[in-house]
Amino acid sequence: LLQHGELPNKAELAVFTRSIMRHTMLNEWLLRFYRSFHHNAHPMAMVATIVASLAAFYHDSTNINNDRHREIFSHRMIAKLPTIAAASYKHALGQPFIYPRNDLDYCANVLNMLFSVPCEPYEVDPLHAKALDLLFILHADHEQNASTSTVRLAGSTGCNPYTAMSAGVSALWGPAHGGANEAVVDMLEKIGDVSHVPDFLARVKDKAGGVRLMGFGHRVYKNFDPRATIIREMCHQVLGKLGQSNNPLFELALRLEEIALKDDYFISRKLYPNVDFYSGIIYRALGIPREMFTVMFAIARTAGWVAHWSEMIADPTLKIARPRQLYTGPTQRDYVPVTKR
Ligand code: ACO
Repeated sequence: LLQHGELPNKAELAVFTRSIMRHTMLNEWLLRFYRSFHHNAHPMAMVATIVASLAAFYHDSTNINNDRHREIFSHRMIAKLPTIAAASYKHALGQPFIYPRNDLDYCANVLNMLFSVPCEPYEVDPLHAKALDLLFILHADHEQNASTSTVRLAGSTGCNPYTAMSAGVSALWGPAHGGANEAVVDMLEKIGDVSHVPDFLARVKDKAGGVRLMGFGHRVYKNFDPRATIIREMCHQVLGKLGQSNNPLFELALRLEEIALKDDYFISRKLYPNVDFYSGIIYRALGIPREMFTVMFAIARTAGWVAHWSEMIADPTLKIARPRQLYTGPTQRDYVPVTKR
């Protein structure tokens, strides 16, 4: 749908699915790159690096003006991101990389690569895969968000598209964007208990310490982020089915939302929970560690990034993106030799 503007028919879906499956593996040489990272490197740093490195493997075979090459690039990205993400996690654990399994569906394969080990059988819980699928759909695209605009800005120069994607991964990492899901769980753990919420909100409103209510506010949504409502509902379902109905972090998040939404500071500024307020709670319930939350977001957003990039490059009127700046400094400054400065 994102790539072509229409849902595929049965035959088209079969071709697309097969193509994604055929591109899930990484070049073995690329896997060796991971050895250069310290065990506690942040996985987003590894993902950004490995995605950029794909340019070194596919540079000669990626002609951005060729429709078929653009399609293969898109499929490679969507197919390989889970493998790259899972390898980053396994590297940190010191566990062997798990190869993709093309008999599993997309989300089950992600979970298998993250959690299975060669020495014992692992069965993917279909409920976990379904929850991940819903999260991935909700995160797949969102028009001109910071990371997508970054991909387009970089891509508009005609650069190798893998490097443009790497720029997008880096932009996503920031706590004001996709990194907020990790920051929300950090924040909830620091608050610790509902009784500390008023103190925490007082610090947010005071602004002196630069503390923000993470997972709240959005540049575009000024009257609720519809994705947050769906994810909150999903939290109820998933945690219930996992036997974690009384999950203390979720209860704290619900109370925090309730209290903030009655507070004039948040009401007057139209600040509501965004997509990241509840997503980390589900990731955590699925056993996904905190530093992987934004990586999960990156896997999902890849579909949107490649669709935007493809659409932009195929446009014959494409020009390099070149924001202008308004200079507000002095109009004349005399040169002062370094010995006199
Ligand atoms: N907590 C406290 N105050 C906030 C918050 C927040 N989360 N968000 C905005 N404000 C305040 C600002 O201090 C400002 O107050 P002022 O009018 O007194 O100066 C006012 O609300 C407007 O805020 P801006 O920063 O101008 O809003 P902007 O649209 O630039 O920022 C953003 C949007 C970056 C999402 C912001 O709301 C924020 O930092 N939220 C927390 C981080 C977060 O959750 N990011 C994920 C966004 S969703 C995504 O990218 C996938």
